[in-house]
Amino acid sequence: MKPTAALRRALLAWFRKNRRDLPWRRTRDPYAIWVAETMLQQTRVQTVIPYYERFMARFPSVQVLADAPTDELMRHWAGLGYYSRARNLQAAACQVVTRHGGALPNTARELRALPGIGRYTAGAVASIAFDRREPVVDGNVARVLARLFALREDIRAPAAQKRLWSEAARIASGAQPGALNEALMELGATICTPRAPRCSDCPLRRHCAARAAGCQAELPVKSRLAPRRRVEAVAALLLRGGRVLAVRRPPGGLLGGLWELPGGPRRRRESPDAALARNLREGLGLAIHSAEPLGAVRHEFTHRLLRLHMFRAQAAPGRVRRAGFDAHRWCAKRAAAELPLSAVARKALAFLELC
Ligand code: ADE
Repeated sequence: MKPTAALRRALLAWFRKNRRDLPWRRTRDPYAIWVAETMLQQTRVQTVIPYYERFMARFPSVQVLADAPTDELMRHWAGLGYYSRARNLQAAACQVVTRHGGALPNTARELRALPGIGRYTAGAVASIAFDRREPVVDGNVARVLARLFALREDIRAPAAQKRLWSEAARIASGAQPGALNEALMELGATICTPRAPRCSDCPLRRHCAARAAGCQAELPVKSRLAPRRRVEAVAALLLRGGRVLAVRRPPGGLLGGLWELPGGPRRRRESPDAALARNLREGLGLAIHSAEPLGAVRHEFTHRLLRLHMFRAQAAPGRVRRAGFDAHRWCAKRAAAELPLSAVARKALAFLELC
């Protein structure tokens, strides 16, 4: 048997016995698989499961998703991060309805023409839902392949990426490409882990060049990303007649379409109080009477570490004149928690308990 055929056989036999029972593995519906693969980008399986189940219960088909109000969609995505995924998913659902009669196209090439579907998602959906011999390379697969072929280059380097995709394509070009791809992901998630890989339980141990050379712990080589920038911002629980003001960010950009508490960035050498007064004046045309500090919220974004100074503030009378937000609402306290809030806004809103 050729080496790749033997490797595929070992991989599939292992996967049949060891595959985790995950909700998106109980369906062959291409839409459901697309939703799952979109949520799984950059996000852990255990985090995704409850979001996926709620999302599929509320938006069970392409048509329902295409017709859904954006706020409703964002409410179901709030907390998962990378919100452009949700907006793209809906934009793509609309195109599937108008251009493909509501059925997801069944080739990687056509899938990639849809908003938000890149090489990974196209390969995953085409192989898992449509049995196309298309590769996938995500973080887990890259680690497995870098070890299997003892690839010593930085896996983010273009030449290494090219090699990884071509090795993945070779493996996926057998029968059951979807299972082969999922098996590689599963192996990376459960056996070929970043630290302390369990090589003695690995179905590919006889094929693995890193294991033969004893260098599995040093692979993959991965360049460090630039350290995350520290940023500071301010926000207020702005109260009027027992209601709190919430604002919505315009679509596009960081946290686009999500609701939050009014505020904005703190400039260098600006005090938090002054930053609050300035942001509320510039962003909402509101003056504040008083601002009482409540404490700070920390939040980690992919490229930033945020420290958000929280205040309770009383607004002077006057109408809101928005600049930079696309909606605002004075909410009863309980209603504010029902809005599609970003994870950081949800942490900030917890200060309502103190008010
Ligand atoms: N990560 C990305 N896609 C996955 C899948 N289909 N199953 C498990 N983990 C995944």
